[in-house]
Amino acid sequence: METVRVELVERSYDIVIGNDLLDGVGARLKTYGPSPKAAIVSNPTVFALYGKRVTDSIKKAGFDLEHVIIPDGEEYKNIDTLKRIYDELLKHGLDRKSALIALGGGVVGDITGFAAATYMRGIPYIQIPTTLLAQVDSSVGGKTGVDHKLGKNMIGAFWQPGLVLIDPATLKTLPKKQLLAGLAEVIKYGIIYDSELFGFLESNRERILNLDDKAITYIIKRSCEIKADVVSKDERESGLRAILNYGHTIGHAIETATGYTRYLHGEAVAIGMHIEAKLSQLLKGIDEGHVFRIKALIDSYGLPSEIPKDINREDILSSMQLDKKAVAGKLKFILPESIGAVKIREDIDEKSIRGLLQS
Ligand SMILES: NC(=O)c1ccc[n+]([C@@H]2O[C@H](COP(=O)([O-])OP(=O)(O)OC[C@H]3O[C@@H](n4cnc5c(N)ncnc54)[C@H](O)[C@@H]3O)[C@@H](O)[C@H]2O)c1
Repeated sequence: METVRVELVERSYDIVIGNDLLDGVGARLKTYGPSPKAAIVSNPTVFALYGKRVTDSIKKAGFDLEHVIIPDGEEYKNIDTLKRIYDELLKHGLDRKSALIALGGGVVGDITGFAAATYMRGIPYIQIPTTLLAQVDSSVGGKTGVDHKLGKNMIGAFWQPGLVLIDPATLKTLPKKQLLAGLAEVIKYGIIYDSELFGFLESNRERILNLDDKAITYIIKRSCEIKADVVSKDERESGLRAILNYGHTIGHAIETATGYTRYLHGEAVAIGMHIEAKLSQLLKGIDEGHVFRIKALIDSYGLPSEIPKDINREDILSSMQLDKKAVAGKLKFILPESIGAVKIREDIDEKSIRGLLQS
């Protein structure tokens, strides 16, 4: 069992990582002290796999437990689903001290967190992330929210969980494509913060892809430590936290230009990380050898690293202007300087990006 502490003064919490944690959710929830009524929010896919274990454990600890099962998919991370969650919570009499338990990937985690942030002006919640992306990224840091038809994650709040429980064994049922998309975010942590993690990913590909217990626990723990460290220093993204968006400026633009149907988020970020490394090379920020290693690692995990020719470059450029991280019309890029270090740059002209995209 491994524990990573997210230090946020009175909002600090633990991320606990270990196999079979699902059977101990109830006892942990109890020490956290909510009222006897609680609700699990999940989707049919995840609930069919892990719902019974979590439910049994919470009921055994004496909770009066409700379930809110929402449809599976990003297209349901919206206000309509959120309203359904509020309806169920009110119908079943959850009060200001009741806890929500988010059991699922990032979609379930984000919407449950936002429901917790807003129901009765804010109630406690815990995250039980079951995708690699959610375990290394979305369950940690307190960004919660839903999509609007005019943009992803446009409605949301910062609301930290009380506890994050990560059972790496849940990854055994995760489709490989989803696992790889999560690995893209782990590669990101290596590039922005930790050359040792990057080296580990280079030398332990087989073990990681075979979900070797020690290797997978190490990469989850290290990723959580990095995210926890960054979030502790800059909870509300007024500065440093932006480094977590490496690969995301171009990644988001690719997702938008392809209507969110062609790539999973992590796949688009993988392309974005390579192209943004090339942008850094063009601006003399990183040497060719490091860019080569970044591309080689992305490729070795079977993730995409190039923008396919059929994607219109103008579409990518215009989506970048709409990226919510663009401040006053200027594009912000997080550019690697080596493996393990990045710089936040806001002075990049459109010409360099246009040239790069057309090369
Ligand atoms: N809050 C944040 O800081 C943050 C950060 C990154 C991403 N996100 C959000 O996360 C979401 C993406 O999350 P995701 O990649 O986890 O996608 P997801 O939640 O849609 O899960 C992917 C698929 O895997 C299934 N699944 C989940 N766990 C499983 C398991 N153990 N076995 C089998 N199937 C399983 C889900 O039902 C779903 O079909 C996006 O909405 C994104 O905006 C949020």
